Amino acid sequence: MKKVIFITGASTGIGRETAVYFSKKGWNVAATMRSPEKGKDLLQHPNIAIFAVDVLDSSSIKKAIDAVLIKFGNIDVLFNNAGYGLVGAFEAMTQEQIKKQFDTNIFGVMNVTRSILPYFRSKNSGVIINTSSMGGIITFPLYSVYHATKWALEGFAESLQYELRPFNIKVKNIEPGAIKTEFETAIEFVSISAYDRYTKPVHQTMLDTYKTAPGPQVVAKKVWQAASDGSYRLRYPVGGQGPLLLFMRWLLPLSWFMAMVRSQVEKRI
Ligand SMILES: NC(=O)c1ccc[n+]([C@@H]2O[C@H](COP(=O)([O-])OP(=O)(O)OC[C@H]3O[C@@H](n4cnc5c(N)ncnc54)[C@H](OP(=O)(O)O)[C@@H]3O)[C@@H](O)[C@H]2O)c1
Repeated sequence: MKKVIFITGASTGIGRETAVYFSKKGWNVAATMRSPEKGKDLLQHPNIAIFAVDVLDSSSIKKAIDAVLIKFGNIDVLFNNAGYGLVGAFEAMTQEQIKKQFDTNIFGVMNVTRSILPYFRSKNSGVIINTSSMGGIITFPLYSVYHATKWALEGFAESLQYELRPFNIKVKNIEPGAIKTEFETAIEFVSISAYDRYTKPVHQTMLDTYKTAPGPQVVAKKVWQAASDGSYRLRYPVGGQGPLLLFMRWLLPLSWFMAMVRSQVEKRI
């Protein structure tokens, strides 16, 4: 029987590229997205099917899992990928914006994961792969709430893998650096005038990193590695300067690392 991957946020970027990559590898792909019409072109691949999932809507998650099991007969890998960035001055963010960021990037992941676990347990196997970020381990200015969601995702996955190991279920986090996708245009940027002198040039400097960033193919390949290496490895850094920055964070005292970040991202101030 062909292997099956269930992907959230497959309409664009990393999720979409991963769908194509796995289909080329001969897997069946359940490409889920909020607006299925956005993924029409994916249907040219014979082993990709599209299902409607908004990770904020529990009933859509359950419906899609049932529909995928009917269509493909099994699910081997869950790829929790949907997410976006709320960026800017924390003081300017509303409770509603912060809640939506957490609902999407962390509670959405928990919801999909909790929905699939009974199935994975019943067959005593499964791989759960989350798109975390290098921003789940290190931080940059203006991404405080985004980082909070990805740091939460790192803690969630690192703890969860213990209790799922007896059921032969693996938990893995992909940690991309900057990747050229729709992420940049989907960023919700907020500021207020008191912060503009800081937020505007720093935000622009952060956005500049996307100009030379690799495309989502590098991440798709890493997801493939995580899905098929059979290991219990937890973290997979990938893309651009991400792995180097994570290494430097591990190597340097925090105060040195933070000085380095400041020297790079505050250079226009
Ligand atoms: N690009 C980077 O530099 C980078 C670096 C590290 C980590 N990441 C992470 O990578 C993941 C994928 O992002 P990307 O770079 O591929 O950006 P992207 O091209 O903007 O893709 C984000 C995907 O998430 C979907 N999404 C957003 N909210 C959703 C919801 N409530 N329910 C279902 N799907 C939802 C979007 O769907 P719609 O099309 O409907 O909006 C889209 O398919 C995110 O978790 C992001 O945090 C990205």
